[in-house]
Amino acid sequence: MAANGGDANGVSSALEAKELKTEIHSNDSPKTLLKNDALYEYMLNTMVYPRENEFMRELRLITKKHTYGFMSSPPEEGQLLSLLLKVIGAKDTIEVGAFTGCSVLATALALPDDGRVVAIDVSREYFDLGLPVIKKAGVAHKVDFREGPAMPILDELFADEANEGRFDFAFVDADKGSYVEYHERLLRLVRAGGVLAYDNTLWGGSVALEDDSALTESDQDIRRSVMAFNAMIAADPRVEAVQLPVADGVTLCRRIA
Ligand SMILES: C[S@@+](CC[C@H](N)C(=O)[O-])C[C@H]1O[C@@H](n2cnc3c(N)ncnc32)[C@H](O)[C@@H]1O
Repeated sequence: MAANGGDANGVSSALEAKELKTEIHSNDSPKTLLKNDALYEYMLNTMVYPRENEFMRELRLITKKHTYGFMSSPPEEGQLLSLLLKVIGAKDTIEVGAFTGCSVLATALALPDDGRVVAIDVSREYFDLGLPVIKKAGVAHKVDFREGPAMPILDELFADEANEGRFDFAFVDADKGSYVEYHERLLRLVRAGGVLAYDNTLWGGSVALEDDSALTESDQDIRRSVMAFNAMIAADPRVEAVQLPVADGVTLCRRIA
């Protein structure tokens, strides 16, 4: 038996035990694919929390109180983004799905002073919750928030020739059913050699469940979208890709040409 009460089959057994319509994500469960809670705690306590930026921590705790706080990326993911952005020397980035701004703040803190993150979300209300912390952290000047559905905003960006290949990095963490279409647009906006990162690409481990598993209709839809996206990326010759079992699954793509 694993520490979370499941067995070697992890998610599958936990879902079956609860029978019908178990939600993949909720505020009651940590956003990690590590199905051993003690191991996840170990990781948080030894590496993640001791190195957590004070403003990232403040925003994480504010976000945690939100009804949809579970949508936020966990702190180890913010640290991954931060390190990655610094390794590739990113200056201009795009984020699709900002929510309260945890990953936007991680990005803005990692960018140079003249760097910019174009952060897109349908809801300004969510973003406004985190904005005071972003301001307090002294990085608000690096954040270009755009309110609205991402697709037309990406199209608008692309309509300006100057934006073709202008971005070094993109982080996608919004409606999973649109990931394939976001990928097409972002491949034109991110430069060759730049990185596209996609969140939730293992969707709570549900990608490994049987098709008829007892999930909510919404989770079934997302699971199908994520699986279609993963199959597309695996066969896409335009990118070099790696699937990381970090957080809820992160797919990193380096644009080849
Ligand atoms: C998982 S949350 C993002 C979490 C955030 N990246 C973080 O690390 O805290 C997903 C966000 O995507 C936004 N969203 C969903 N569909 C969208 C769309 N079509 N266009 C823009 N934003 C969208 C939601 O409003 C929500 O805030």
